[in-house]
Amino acid sequence: MRTLVMTAPGGAENSSVVEVAEPVPGPGELTIDVAYAGLNFVDVMARRGDAGYATWPHRPGLEVSGTVRALGPGVTHLAVGDRVVAVPKGAGMSEVALASAELAVPVPDGVSLAAAAATPLGLATSLLLLTDAGRFTPGDTVLVHSASGGIGGAVARLVPLLGGGRLIGTVGRPEKAAEAERAGYQLVLTRDTDPTEAVRSATDGRGVDLILDPLGTTALSLDLELAAPGGRVVLFGNATGAAIDALPPVDRLLRGNLTITGFSHRGLVANAPARVAAATGRILGFLADGRLTMPVTEVPGLAEIPAAHDLLAEGRGSGKYVARIGEGIL
Ligand SMILES: NC(=O)c1ccc[n+]([C@@H]2O[C@H](COP(=O)([O-])OP(=O)(O)OC[C@H]3O[C@@H](n4cnc5c(N)ncnc54)[C@H](OP(=O)(O)O)[C@@H]3O)[C@@H](O)[C@H]2O)c1
Repeated sequence: MRTLVMTAPGGAENSSVVEVAEPVPGPGELTIDVAYAGLNFVDVMARRGDAGYATWPHRPGLEVSGTVRALGPGVTHLAVGDRVVAVPKGAGMSEVALASAELAVPVPDGVSLAAAAATPLGLATSLLLLTDAGRFTPGDTVLVHSASGGIGGAVARLVPLLGGGRLIGTVGRPEKAAEAERAGYQLVLTRDTDPTEAVRSATDGRGVDLILDPLGTTALSLDLELAAPGGRVVLFGNATGAAIDALPPVDRLLRGNLTITGFSHRGLVANAPARVAAATGRILGFLADGRLTMPVTEVPGLAEIPAAHDLLAEGRGSGKYVARIGEGIL
């Protein structure tokens, strides 16, 4: 079978499509004929060699949709041929992917496998950021950094389904504002200017209830300035790859009644997979009943993924990308 492999830290020049042996499911596992694989910024972090994200050669891909190819011993909630999504055990950008059955979720009729491919990592993360880590309640004002990306777009589409709230986004470049507005952000600010006044006036001076921040600690001081009394800041990434600073002094949190929380999909996959599977199932339900529409850009095949990774790596991506892997899998 064909798979995408990254041979060393760097760019697209170190990625290629190669033939490898097909995986065989062990106890509690399944294999999937992959229809689509989701692209995620974590692929870029691995590709550029961020510590802890890859060993070499590295086979990327942490979310797939497709049909069950084979079941290992003890897997009873699925059958061969079922349409599923899963968080694979890495190497999802392959014609056949291996996953733990506890992280494989059936795809309801009527949900396309292209849209479904965005659920087990991207959309599940977006939902869990809001509900679990962020303790969102209806009416909260939510500020999201990097609002025009895959996670940013998904968060904007989920907030109305959770009861609604004012949505403020920041983007790195002015040309990305339109995509964030399309996703549902009512106010979009470029991070090259100080957003403090605009956020204060948009929130009647109160500040923001929930801030979702994937920028390491580069914006943390600003986040604390913008937070309303009792505000929550969820740190969930380090897009720039910059060194992580120490957290602010405790009295800064005490004075503002502020919370700083961390979120890791990878951590939940390892330690609480049922929470990832439950969030994925909930998202698939939203897609099935038509309450959620998640636009995706289709990358036509395995060989075109490295160029799409370049877009994400250079911060030129827009919205969510999924790659078509298997022809004729519906
Ligand atoms: N903790 C978790 O479990 C988890 C799960 C999924 C994703 N994430 C994180 O969430 C963020 C968004 O992920 P995504 O999959 O939605 O990715 P994406 O669509 O590619 O968005 C990434 C965004 O990061 C921003 N960025 C800032 N500095 C950058 C740099 N030096 N190089 C490239 N991009 C840079 C860019 O937006 P602006 O220029 O507009 O800021 C870019 O659009 C990433 O940081 C990712 O690591 C975390």
